[in-house]
Amino acid sequence: MPEHKKQQERLQEILNFTSAIVDKKREEMKRRSGDNISENSDFGIKKEVHGHHTVTSVLSSILYELSKHEDVQEKLFEEISSIIENDKCISTKDINAMEYMECVVKEGLRLYSPATYIERKLDYDVEVDGSIIPKGTNINIFIFQLHRSEQVYKNALKFDPDRFSAANMDGRDPMAFIPFSFGIRNCIGWKFAMIQIKCLLAKIIYNYRMQPLSQHFELQLYSDVFLKSKSGFPVNLLRR
Ligand code: HEM
Repeated sequence: MPEHKKQQERLQEILNFTSAIVDKKREEMKRRSGDNISENSDFGIKKEVHGHHTVTSVLSSILYELSKHEDVQEKLFEEISSIIENDKCISTKDINAMEYMECVVKEGLRLYSPATYIERKLDYDVEVDGSIIPKGTNINIFIFQLHRSEQVYKNALKFDPDRFSAANMDGRDPMAFIPFSFGIRNCIGWKFAMIQIKCLLAKIIYNYRMQPLSQHFELQLYSDVFLKSKSGFPVNLLRR
């Protein structure tokens, strides 16, 4: 399949490019620290390439979910094709007009939040359920677990973009959805990331139909600073 071969070549180009950046960064860090860098230093490097990995990761997971939810995919296709006729360039105005797209992307970010946790050091004592967590304690906030909590989301593991319709979001705690973290150290690239994901998704769904590779496939997710899938996010792409 020539299309598949081309796609693999382009993907390899992107991976080579990203690896080259990581290698260069590692060399720079070695020079600066004057000795061998530890495994943990990879976290710093990964943070710097996080803008790339996070976007591709959430995009892949959304395409995977769309392959399993034909109704969602068709509703999204209808919205996209009513806004971008003849596959023209997508403007910010087009993106802003895609209301259902916003719900689909948010639902992808909820279920497959690329940042699985964030860390903070407490500046002051915090009371939780009658117990005091003292100032100075390092805490982890597990975004992945929060986003998949049944206490917060009904049928939490179901991919259901309607959770993010204006009516369904009414009354939900804003802290229940924090893929980009919150507060003064939140993600500075979040708006750019949302635009990137929406543009790519619009182009892909306008031109291709996603189909599941297998109905019985099980994802094997794990966290390596970012959310990863041992099994990948397999889909069949058919040209529309
Ligand atoms: C879906 C895409 C993305 C997700 C889910 C995401 C998520 C996050 C999260 C959760 C943090 C906060 C870490 C913390 O609170 O400790 C963060 C920080 C950051 N993000 Fe992103 N990010 C994404 C894309 C991007 C992009 C595209 C860029 C750059 C163009 C970017 C640049 C940054 C930077 C520089 C920080 C550090 C901010 C600071 O420490 O003050 N991110 N991101």
